[in-house]
Amino acid sequence: MKNIDHQLRPQAPMKLLNVQMQLHNFFLYLLLLGFGLAFGITLSFYLKDISFNFQLNQFPVLNPLPNTTSSFSLVSTTPPPPPPFRVLTKKNKGRVGLTDFLRVPNASHDMREDEMLWRASMVPQVRDFPFKRVPKVAFLFLTRGPLALAPLWELFFKGHEGLYSIYVHSDPSFNGTVPENSVFYGRRIPSKEVAWGKFSMVEAERRLLANALLDFSNQRFVLLSESCIPLYNFTTVYQYLVGSTQTFIEVYDFPGGVGRGRYNSRMMPTISLAQWRKGSQWVEMDRHLAIQVVSDRKYYPIFKRYCRGSCYSDEHYLPTFAHIKFSRKNSNRTLTWADWSRGGPHPYRFGRVDVTVDLLKSLRNYGQCVYNGRPSDICHLFARKFSSDALDRLLRFAPKVMGF
Ligand SMILES: *[C@@H]1O[C@H](CO)[C@@H](O)[C@H](O)[C@H]1NC(C)=O
Ligand SMILES: *[C@@H]1O[C@H](CO)[C@@H](O)[C@H](O)[C@H]1NC(C)=O
Ligand SMILES: *[C@@H]1O[C@H](CO)[C@@H](O)[C@H](O)[C@H]1NC(C)=O
Ligand SMILES: *[C@@H]1O[C@H](CO)[C@@H](O)[C@H](O)[C@H]1NC(C)=O
Ligand SMILES: *[C@@H]1O[C@H](CO)[C@@H](O)[C@H](O)[C@H]1NC(C)=O
Repeated sequence: MKNIDHQLRPQAPMKLLNVQMQLHNFFLYLLLLGFGLAFGITLSFYLKDISFNFQLNQFPVLNPLPNTTSSFSLVSTTPPPPPPFRVLTKKNKGRVGLTDFLRVPNASHDMREDEMLWRASMVPQVRDFPFKRVPKVAFLFLTRGPLALAPLWELFFKGHEGLYSIYVHSDPSFNGTVPENSVFYGRRIPSKEVAWGKFSMVEAERRLLANALLDFSNQRFVLLSESCIPLYNFTTVYQYLVGSTQTFIEVYDFPGGVGRGRYNSRMMPTISLAQWRKGSQWVEMDRHLAIQVVSDRKYYPIFKRYCRGSCYSDEHYLPTFAHIKFSRKNSNRTLTWADWSRGGPHPYRFGRVDVTVDLLKSLRNYGQCVYNGRPSDICHLFARKFSSDALDRLLRFAPKVMGF
């Protein structure tokens, strides 16, 4: 024991020195660590700032604009909006991002009907768009032959590229062509023969809606015929539609033979006589309702089965569907004026001599209608029916009266 004790003693002062040195080093390390930490944190903040600014400058289109119905400003000289997706550059080479997903198929795609309806029925559950989305109005033309009033529409659309899209559904037998410099060029969607007469109109409407839904930018959808004309300039029409909180499907209950008389009791219990409605097929709706229409697997098959021939489903399907499911949001009126005052099963068709400045002015001054809960001087944005020989007069008066 003693020996061991002796051996240890002389080392004691050395040990004390060691401890002091270690303590000294410890504080030195602590100090260095502190400096290091402070420097690291400062640097990381600094770098974060740089990369953040860099991203903002690099992809200005990525700033979210979630609110599609919010305020918007329109000048006819606005440049077309930037593509709503990341553009491939040298920096992000190889990254595809949303580009592929957002790419709009050509109007003349080869999707089957069921494939197209399925794709059109997709709804994102996240409401805010992670890119700047400029809402567009889809103009859906349901025509038999050529669009004789196309030059008037060309004038209407001129200078507003990026705010509208056009889709044309012609009779399958129509083989006419459209000049390459026309806004209607390449906008014809695939159509096919349908055996059961009038019902094909509703089918064509659904086909038009489904095609337009494939473009995520399309927010409002207007159905028009080849005999329709616009009553206001593009800016007014666009603001009216994109700013609206309502849909414009004419809905009324008509007791006579051409109303309730067309109801088939075999539609019970899905559709009762009390729910049966009538209205114009020239409708306007928002994206939400358009998706519901192309996804409808409850009422559509009933119409397909029991509303044929003289039932004229195009006058009943959308009004009845909107009445049963969306009456709270529907204005129950149409935006497309027609002259029914002369009686008969069809509205009056305006020819060359009918078109005057006074006629066009009177269609614009119809009276007052409710718009977003307030009175508005605009009741109709479009009018029908105008024959092809009215074109030159319409073109002559449009700049003066309609402002385009
Ligand atoms: C859209 O904008 C309007 C007015 O700017 C605002 O009242 C509304 O809350 C916004 N909606 C959403 C979903 O942000
Ligand atoms: C779409 O149409 C354009 C020109 O009309 C053509 O060049 C392009 O290949 C088409 N795209 C597809 C996917 O068919
Ligand atoms: C278009 O169809 C008509 C008959 O409907 C035919 O006479 C004409 O030759 C066709 N034109 C073309 C370019 O196919
Ligand atoms: C439209 O009609 C429905 C009944 O079908 C009604 O509940 C709704 O209030 C009407 N909307 C307007 C704006 O009058
Ligand atoms: C479009 O029409 C509105 C009236 O509806 C008018 O106030 C506006 O000035 C017109 N815009 C152009 C560019 O002519």
